Amino acid sequence: MHSRYLLEKNLTRRVLLRGVAQASMLGLAGIGLNGCVGILLLANSEITGPGLGAIAGRKGRLYGVALQSSHLDDADFAAAVKSEATLLVPESELKWEALRPAPGTFDFSGYRRLAAFAQENGMQMRGHTLVWYYANPPWLEHALKDRRAAEKILATHIERVIGETSPFIRQWDVVNEAVHPSSTRGDVLRPSIWLDALGPSYIPLAYRLAHEANPDLELVYNEYGLEWDGIYGRRKRDGVLRLLEKMVAEGVPVHALGLQSHLRCHRPLDTDAFTAFLERVREMGLKVYVTEFDLDLSVLSGTAADKIRIAQNYAAAYLDAVQLSGDVRMLLTWGLSDRYSWLGSVRGDSTGALPLDADLRRGPLWETLRDRWAEV
Ligand code: XIL
Repeated sequence: MHSRYLLEKNLTRRVLLRGVAQASMLGLAGIGLNGCVGILLLANSEITGPGLGAIAGRKGRLYGVALQSSHLDDADFAAAVKSEATLLVPESELKWEALRPAPGTFDFSGYRRLAAFAQENGMQMRGHTLVWYYANPPWLEHALKDRRAAEKILATHIERVIGETSPFIRQWDVVNEAVHPSSTRGDVLRPSIWLDALGPSYIPLAYRLAHEANPDLELVYNEYGLEWDGIYGRRKRDGVLRLLEKMVAEGVPVHALGLQSHLRCHRPLDTDAFTAFLERVREMGLKVYVTEFDLDLSVLSGTAADKIRIAQNYAAAYLDAVQLSGDVRMLLTWGLSDRYSWLGSVRGDSTGALPLDADLRRGPLWETLRDRWAEV
């Protein structure tokens, strides 16, 4: 009898052997490989085969993951990253807080460990992020006390960080999350230590400094919540469009929009407004990337199966709106496994957030992404 579990395509003899061995260990009926096997409960997740990076790569796409260098201490997780990703982004270790413990200090140790791992495994790396309102060291705010000092501090940082990471890193999130719907400003810019010190000019200045440091870099503006409905989504989209249109009109070297894509699966998507927004961004000549994809199921109700189904439908609708099968040539998930998702701390639950579950098994999101790239 052929078990339907063994008719899954891509199943290799090695997997069959392992599966039968496991089945016999578990006391399940597992017989020889003479084409007649017993009931072998191979959870879909245990079926090995090309990783998401290889699957995306066949269609000229890049799949990447965010991680901390400390995650590499987990050998099973490091092996899973090698299997699945062809691109890495440091989750935290290229941010000011990690790089700049003191005014005259640069600590690249975390980045260097991740870069070595990436290079050893033939992976690329992208940079995140040169200017952000968050994750800054305590000394910075006071140091930005006047405009000239602030300009010099920003220039020194960008020149040194790009100098250290070039030519390996060829793409950077230069400014992250500069727009906030609650802003009382007409330009909807988010209050921050950088806006306080330099006014709105901190944004074009950062891109110009990055371009001067390495003219070959692809420079990205990175943002979240652009897909949401209601006044929040509308003001976020309007603010980002206004910012990007001004930068493009002034010849600021910005090349792409990074959609963080932290999908809060209970929040309605405004797909019409979002797709119209993306069309305006593309009309400016900017590329679109998915830079921090994950799924937040923490506010969904129903059984575990209900939540997974809702989340996968939400993800599919989002990926359609983004046109992942179209010109979006890079997608990163913000982590690879629920085991290390930031959602565990910020939402209290990371179940279903990422392509691999906490036991590093391929889950529903892995299949959703595989199927999307299969359509390209
Ligand atoms: C998050 C990290 O995942 C956390 O570990 C850290 O404590 C805070 O920052 N948008 C971003 C990322 O651009 O840099 C954030 O990463 C998640 C939201």
